[in-house]
Amino acid sequence: MSDKKAFLKVDGRDEAIELPIYSGSIGPDVIDVGGLSSQGMFTYDPGFISTAACESQITYIDGDKGVLLHRGYPIEQLAEHSDYLETCYLLLYGELPSTQQKAEFENTVRYHTMVHDQLTSFFHAFRRDAHPMAIMCGVVGALSAFYHDSLDIADERHREIAAFRLVAKMPTLAAMSYKFSIGQPFMYPDNNLSYAENFLHMMFGTPCEDSVVNPVLAKAMDRIFLLHADHEQNASTSTVRLAGSSGANPFACIAAGIAALWGPSHGGANEAVLNMLEEIGDVSHIEEFVARAKDKDDPFRLMGFGHRVYKNFDPRAKVMKESADEVLAELGIDNDPLLAIAKRLEEIALEDEYFIEKKLYPNVDFYSGIILKAIGIPTSMFTVIFAVGRTVGWIAHWHEMISGSYRIGRPRQLYTGYKQRDYKPLDQR
Ligand code: CMC
Repeated sequence: MSDKKAFLKVDGRDEAIELPIYSGSIGPDVIDVGGLSSQGMFTYDPGFISTAACESQITYIDGDKGVLLHRGYPIEQLAEHSDYLETCYLLLYGELPSTQQKAEFENTVRYHTMVHDQLTSFFHAFRRDAHPMAIMCGVVGALSAFYHDSLDIADERHREIAAFRLVAKMPTLAAMSYKFSIGQPFMYPDNNLSYAENFLHMMFGTPCEDSVVNPVLAKAMDRIFLLHADHEQNASTSTVRLAGSSGANPFACIAAGIAALWGPSHGGANEAVLNMLEEIGDVSHIEEFVARAKDKDDPFRLMGFGHRVYKNFDPRAKVMKESADEVLAELGIDNDPLLAIAKRLEEIALEDEYFIEKKLYPNVDFYSGIILKAIGIPTSMFTVIFAVGRTVGWIAHWHEMISGSYRIGRPRQLYTGYKQRDYKPLDQR
C-alpha cells in the first residue's frame, strides 16, 4: 500500500474527492473507489476493463509484455521443469514443495481419485447425447451432496480436503462424462499412474484389455492441464469468487465456475476453434472467413484469436505450440486437413494488418484444440479438459478469499429503466 492519492473533480462540486491509491508488488496502481458510494456515486466499468475486484497473491499477468507468473514463477519455467500436480501445490500453498511434500501431495491426490459409487447413477439420468459440460455442471455441484465432511468453509482442514477431492476427482468425472456419451463402461482410476496418464487411461482404456498410455501424449496432456491451471481473475475464477463470497460450499462454487467457463468467449473457445476449422472446411475458404472476421457487420470472429489481457502474445500459446509440434510428430500426423487449415489461418492472421493492428494473436485455445484433436479427444470434451486443469486455480482463489477478510460481492448498476410510475389496471393499458 502507498501514501499516493487520487483526486476526483466532479462538475458542480467545489471540493475534489480524495481517493487512496494502492501499489501492488508489481503491476499498475489501483485507485480505491470504495468510498465513492458514501458520496452518492458509483463507478461504471462494464466488463471490468479497469476494475480490480480483489487483492490476490496467486497469479500475475502483464498482457503487454506477455508475462504470466504463478506465485512469481514464469509459466514457461513451470511448463519446462515442473508438472501439473507440483504446480497445483504451488498455487494452493504458495511455495514449490520439498521432495517429501511433493510425494505426500501426489499420494493424497492419488487416493482421492475415486468417486462415491452412487454418483454413477447421476450419469445414467442424463441423455446419452448430453454435452459433457452440461453433465459436469451437474455432477460437480452434486459432490456437495456426497462429501458432507468437507463442507464447513470456516474450517481450514475442510477446505483443504475439498481441494484434494476436487483436484483428484475432476479427471475421473470428466472421463466418466465421455464414457457415458459413447456407451462404454466407466473406468476406475489406476492409482499407479500419474495424473495425466490416469486421465488418458480412464478416457481410452476399457476393462477388456490393459491400457497402454503413450508417454509423449501423457506429457502433452499434463502440459495442457498445467497451462490452464490458473489465469488470475478471469470470468470463471471471478464467478467462483462471487459465488463463494456468499458462503456457498466449494463444490457448488466450482460448479458455478464450470458454467462460466463453458461459453465460447472463455473456455468454450477450444471447442469453437475446431468447429470453426470444420466450418471453413478447406484452405481455399480461409480468405472468405478472414474477411468475415474483419467485417464489422458480421458477428463472426476467428475463434482462438485475441485475448482480453494479452495484447502481444499469449505465453501459454508459445509453449502449447511446442507441444502441438511434438504430438503431431509423435503421431506422424502431417496431412490432416483441419490442421492444414489451422496452420494457414495462423500464418494469415499473423501477417494481416487487421489482426496486427488489433493485436489479435493465436491464444492458448488455438493450439490446445489442435493437440486434443490429435490425441483423439472428441471436440465436445475440450472445454471439460480446460475445466479439469483450471479447477486448482478456482480453488486456490476461493481458498485465498475465504481465509482472508471478504464481503459478499454485490456490484451496483447504472439504472436506465423507468422512473417510479403507478400501476395501471388491466382495462387501462
Ligand atoms: N476475430 C476477429 N476480430 C476480433 C477477435 C477475433 N477473434 N477478437 C477481437 N476482435 C476485434 C473486435 O471485433 C474488436 O474490434 P473493434 O475494436 O473494431 O470493435 C477488437 O478486436 C477488440 O475486441 P473486444 O471484443 O473488445 O475484446 P475483448 O477483450 O472484449 O475480447 C475475447 C477478448 C477473447 C473475448 C475476443 O478476442 C474473442 O472473442 N476471441 C475469440 C474467442 C476466444 O478465442 N476466446 C478464448 C480466450 S483465451 C482462453 C481464456 O482465457 O478463456
